[in-house]
Amino acid sequence: MLSEKDLLGLKNLKAAEIEEILSRAEEMKRALVAKKIKKTLDGKTLVVLFYENSTRTRTSFELAGKYLGANVVNISVATSSVQKGETLIDTGKTLDAMKVDFFAIRHQMAGAPALLAKNVKASVINGGDGMHEHPTQALLDMLTLKEKFGRIAGLKVAILGDIKHSRVALSNLFGLKKLGAEVVMYAPATMIPAELEKFGAKIAKSREEALDGADGVMGLRIQLERQNGGLFPSLGEYSRFYGIKRELLKYAKPNAVIMHPGPVNRGVELPPELIDGAQSAIEEQVTSGVAVRMAVLQMLSEYKGVRK
Ligand code: CP
Repeated sequence: MLSEKDLLGLKNLKAAEIEEILSRAEEMKRALVAKKIKKTLDGKTLVVLFYENSTRTRTSFELAGKYLGANVVNISVATSSVQKGETLIDTGKTLDAMKVDFFAIRHQMAGAPALLAKNVKASVINGGDGMHEHPTQALLDMLTLKEKFGRIAGLKVAILGDIKHSRVALSNLFGLKKLGAEVVMYAPATMIPAELEKFGAKIAKSREEALDGADGVMGLRIQLERQNGGLFPSLGEYSRFYGIKRELLKYAKPNAVIMHPGPVNRGVELPPELIDGAQSAIEEQVTSGVAVRMAVLQMLSEYKGVRK
């Protein structure tokens, strides 16, 4: 049971709530793979409201809702009244008045999902807000790890890439630490805020140190759209000095999984032979994403507390 009507991040979720989401997502994934899904959200309505581009998150929220029998409406912000100057709160209240049950929102502003959640009765799920959190991405990463290793506690997860701009890194740090994993990060000094150590991250001094004994090796996309340049000399040099390479995998555990939230810059964060290789869990992450979003929708539909 979730204690809030919304899922805005993993920072304030209890470990027991994360564990329950993962257990429910494992059940959902079995049903998804067997194509035996119960239509438990028949009569409910999910609005997918994305102010930023997305392939995986947007599509998987839509499919998760449809697989569970909900009505799903995609709002195209480019053709909505947002273009006439309507505020997020007014957009939310308008859709809430149509008696929707869930919003899945992505927004470039950190805190936008929380603002929406305060102003609507429907449950709000954060599909990524600025450089803040991306809770369902971290949950699907954890589900992928849990399925592979049977546990999260005691695992070492190395996260390499654009940590500074990454809501995926922050949500994974909160979630993995709550469930007892070790999280080690590595990036150019310009792309890794030191304050992450306050939340329990270890900052490695080299790729070798980051990967040493790792069970999970996660590459993060270089988010060119969120930076003004100057954080590293060039993509080629980034790849050479900070990218994950085949020859570095000898430092990780032999059965380590390679992960990436996508979309991936092929040849920058990871070379194609690792993206498509035997240790890659990148496609599994995508399937886990549908299952996690199904579990979250289901659990929020069971929320019995006060709404707004
Ligand atoms: N991982 C992720 O958020 O991908 P999208 O931007 O395609 O949704």
